[in-house]
Amino acid sequence: MTRIKIFDTTLRDGEQSPGVNLNQLEKLEIAKQLERLGVDVMEAGFPASSQGDFDAVQKIARTIKNSTVTALARANRNDIDRAWEAIKDASHPRIHVFIATSPIHMKDKLKKTPEQVVEIAVEMVKYAKEKCDDIEWSAEDASRSDLAFLAAIIEQVIDAGATVINLPDTVGYTTPKEYGEMFKYMKENVPNIERVDLSTHCHDDLGMALANSIAGVQNGATQVEGTINGIGERAGNASLEELAVTFEIRKDFYPFTTQFVLNEIKRTSDLISQFTGMVVPGNKAIVGRNAFAHESGIHQDGVLKNAQTYEIITPELVGVHSNNLVLGKHSGRHAFKDRIQQLGFNLSDEKIADAFLAFKQLTDRKKEVTDDDLFVILMEIQTDT
Ligand code: KIV
Ligand code: ZN
Repeated sequence: MTRIKIFDTTLRDGEQSPGVNLNQLEKLEIAKQLERLGVDVMEAGFPASSQGDFDAVQKIARTIKNSTVTALARANRNDIDRAWEAIKDASHPRIHVFIATSPIHMKDKLKKTPEQVVEIAVEMVKYAKEKCDDIEWSAEDASRSDLAFLAAIIEQVIDAGATVINLPDTVGYTTPKEYGEMFKYMKENVPNIERVDLSTHCHDDLGMALANSIAGVQNGATQVEGTINGIGERAGNASLEELAVTFEIRKDFYPFTTQFVLNEIKRTSDLISQFTGMVVPGNKAIVGRNAFAHESGIHQDGVLKNAQTYEIITPELVGVHSNNLVLGKHSGRHAFKDRIQQLGFNLSDEKIADAFLAFKQLTDRKKEVTDDDLFVILMEIQTDT
């Protein structure tokens, strides 16, 4: 089995979903939950984009211990300085520098020749490397780039010190065969390619982000980038929970593993949906409300006789519990604590006591306390330091 590293970009590409704007506290809670989920790398944000983003990235970098924390930078000194400033206190910092390599992006967006793009990429990777050992370099719009040009620039950024090479399908245009072949080409044509991790980064514009990511892995990628619930620019990014569960359920077919803590998936999905306001579609694979529901009589009959007739994934595997206790004025501390943990909050005993008190006060006014009510209470308790 080959271990595939998971790079979560929920807090950066995911936050680029239209209408999503997370505050610092929400980002920190998500980061802590992503660490519990076992992501290898989390992209905490894009510090040069705003002071708010810088502050959130810095706070995350100073809090997270077990995952690498990275920040995005365009290929210029100011962005790299801001990224480094924000992440330098992390236990495992990584700077993520990108520049576009496709003809359309180089000519019409960057207004640079391919030679100039190579020069900037190399210079900026060297500049970032002076600050940080771990440097990821991304070729934006790689899937629409010329393969020979891509191979040449990758060779040079590896020489300049890059440790991870990411080949994004920025506009969600590629197909599994084509994307896989790009990785194969780089494996066969770039000297020293074995020194780096190759990474996939797929968008879902044609609904192929997961299939494309898997094709990348089958052709040599050892890191997969994506988000929880598949949120992200336009149609979103590859959904990491789908990838991790696919490798688990089809390990007879795919010789790949991740270190995702699978039973933390549902909790992470709920937390992110709640904070971003992006409702998970009922039929969404793995985390949708209906993913484990059986409606037709034939299916219900089959499942009652043997769940495996229609159920390839057990709800418990991904942390979905059938135990849906309603919280109200007769609920005790135990059920309350259980529920807040399910929602992804790990509070001290003192904070739990405060939250329980606020909950009990609410039950005087409200018969049934919903998860939304609990989120309001819990966020207030968290802020109240
Ligand atoms: O989709 C993309 O190309 C990106 C890069 C900035 C990595 O998100
Ligand atoms: Zn992206």
